[in-house]
Amino acid sequence: MIVLGIESSCDETGLALYSEEKGLIKHLVNSQIDLFTEYGGVIPEIAARDHSVKIVRILEELIEDTGIGLNDIDLIAYTAGPGLIGSLVVGETVAKTLSTLLDIELLPMNHLEGHILAPGLEEEVIEPPYLCLLVSGGHTQIIECKNYGDYQILGETIDDACGEAFDKVGKLLNLEYPGGPKVSKLAESGDSQRFSFPRALMKEKNLSFSFSGLKTSVLYALNDLKEEDYPDVAASFQEAVIDVLTKKLGFAVEQTGIKKLVCSGGVAANKLLRERLTEMANQSGLEVSYPSMEFCTDNAAMIAYAGFIRKKYNLKKYSTAYARPRWPLGELYD
Ligand code: KG4
Ligand code: ZN
Repeated sequence: MIVLGIESSCDETGLALYSEEKGLIKHLVNSQIDLFTEYGGVIPEIAARDHSVKIVRILEELIEDTGIGLNDIDLIAYTAGPGLIGSLVVGETVAKTLSTLLDIELLPMNHLEGHILAPGLEEEVIEPPYLCLLVSGGHTQIIECKNYGDYQILGETIDDACGEAFDKVGKLLNLEYPGGPKVSKLAESGDSQRFSFPRALMKEKNLSFSFSGLKTSVLYALNDLKEEDYPDVAASFQEAVIDVLTKKLGFAVEQTGIKKLVCSGGVAANKLLRERLTEMANQSGLEVSYPSMEFCTDNAAMIAYAGFIRKKYNLKKYSTAYARPRWPLGELYD
């Protein structure tokens, strides 16, 4: 079985081919980051247009590089949501057109399921049940993956996503969009103990997150500071975020008894977060896996792989396929 994966939910255009026998054959991603540095964030209209300009060219390149013809494809798995509607519709149109013209089975995919399953894309497959800490620009959730296709959200953010907090703090520190990787780079030369930024919602051991107060504290702290203090601010901010993420995941382990962990999504590319989670896992007899760096941020390989898993385990298919900006995990079938 060969699966074509299509991802266009935000500002990355991704295409991938995944085979049952060989695993990931190849994936290509075009990031639109350069288009948005001057605006400090994604402009949906520009994102949609750029997907539309690039997507067929990337598909042609994938076909040419791999020597796999469109007629060899058995299944098309595309991101139907959640995401920016204009961006989603571009991927969906390509997916539906190919599916109709070539008579290939079509699978609308939830982007979050791609992130949750991403670590299984390489090396050994990570079998459920496990807990997934999903940390990206749009989401911060702890999800219990009970089985393939059976996910329960145990806790999530009540305001900003943690990647969003990184990006907003990046802006406050005059760093270019997206701030996440730049804040963590700046933090390397800073003192993470200098400022004690708030850790929200920690008392009740609940699994909800809140990052907007933290962002406001950083804003106030900056009033009295100079640019030479910024590395300390970045390091102390990052410390607060990672402290909360690690401890909350620890609470989820206590509450569920599940000892297998996965951390994925764009923020899972953060080196210190990976170090801390690995440290916690080693101390508490847990097992933790991450996708490799290139599969933390948005890509089509994880969508193709998640589509392959849905087909392999014969999971229920969505009755109607249409792009949806909001699509909470767990509410998968209309
Ligand atoms: O998963 P992703 O590519 O897109 C969404 O689905 O949101 O995640 C992008 C997010 C951005 O907020 C970016 O700043 C953050 O991931 N990010 C990081 C790092 N690399 C990417 N945040 C902290 N540290 C990093 N090293
Ligand atoms: Zn994502």
